[in-house]
Amino acid sequence: MTYLETAAQFYQEVAQTPLLGLCCVQSTPLQLPGLQIPLPMQEMNYGCGTTVHPTELSNQPTVLYVGVGGGLEALQFAYFSRRAGGVIAIEPVAAMREAAARNLEIAATENHWFDPSFVEIKEGDAFNLPVADASVDIVAQNCLFNIFEPDDLTRALKEAFRVLKPGGRLQMSDPIATRAIPEHLQQDERLRAMCLSGALTYEEYTERIINAGFGQIEIRARRPYRLLDSQTYNLPENLLLESLDCVCFKVAIPEDGACIFTGKTAIYAGGESFFDDSAGHLLQRGIPAAVCDKTAAKLAASKPAEIMITDSTWHYSGGGCC
Ligand SMILES: C[S@@+](CC[C@H](N)C(=O)[O-])C[C@H]1O[C@@H](n2cnc3c(N)ncnc32)[C@H](O)[C@@H]1O
Repeated sequence: MTYLETAAQFYQEVAQTPLLGLCCVQSTPLQLPGLQIPLPMQEMNYGCGTTVHPTELSNQPTVLYVGVGGGLEALQFAYFSRRAGGVIAIEPVAAMREAAARNLEIAATENHWFDPSFVEIKEGDAFNLPVADASVDIVAQNCLFNIFEPDDLTRALKEAFRVLKPGGRLQMSDPIATRAIPEHLQQDERLRAMCLSGALTYEEYTERIINAGFGQIEIRARRPYRLLDSQTYNLPENLLLESLDCVCFKVAIPEDGACIFTGKTAIYAGGESFFDDSAGHLLQRGIPAAVCDKTAAKLAASKPAEIMITDSTWHYSGGGCC
């Protein structure tokens, strides 16, 4: 069996018998007027964060959801799309497709606004998405891509890039590792399927996203996910996994490199009323301006005495003003 077949077998098992606590992190469930999440769907919450960003889902976007699980986030996206086929959910495991379809039928009885036709569940996988080039506004995946070995991760990222419209967004949540996961754990196919041993470091993960073509990444959340303790996992010391929520934009990569926003700001404290770096950044004296990490480093190097750079907050959500 390949590791992908092991993963498929594992998800067949947890489609038939829900495994409470698999992947999930503690957070307040998304509460929206009129949205009821059926209990069986909650029991199959196999995501490690969220990919649904409610303030950015206007105009009934077409969402391609990869790895439907119990259908929880597909339902949440459908809340915003509210039309037949607005959410296309791709899933290779038959038992999971059946569980999601069942859960969405229940959702229709509990949510007056919802019709099961709003989520079209299709057989397929992350490497061959059954939709045309540049045809969807959003691709979302939660706690799936970390299962993939690095070359397969690149294939899946490139496939997401292919199907997104220009300017479209890849919205993901995945575990990342605070240091490289040792080979003996990476090779453990069941741990990998359980989202415990395939994670890359933050640097490796973001590098692969950029190499797939995405010109801008925004980090929406970064929090502790699981501890691989030294005894259970045969490690020299404990290894913390984090979960990372991010939104990756299909925009051109600037000549000087992609922009990654992690919540840093630049604050001008010089003698003028403002500072203009002639590269699109106007800093008013004393007022924090959101900057990507690349710009933060450039500004810090060019004016170390006059520009303060604040730390990454790891929850960047836009650089608008007031
Ligand atoms: C960790 S679960 C996450 C489920 C869902 N995203 C959630 O948040 O509850 C991973 C899902 O991806 C599916 N999956 C496994 N291999 C896949 C592949 N190669 N392509 C697409 N989906 C896959 C699994 O069957 C499962 O439904």
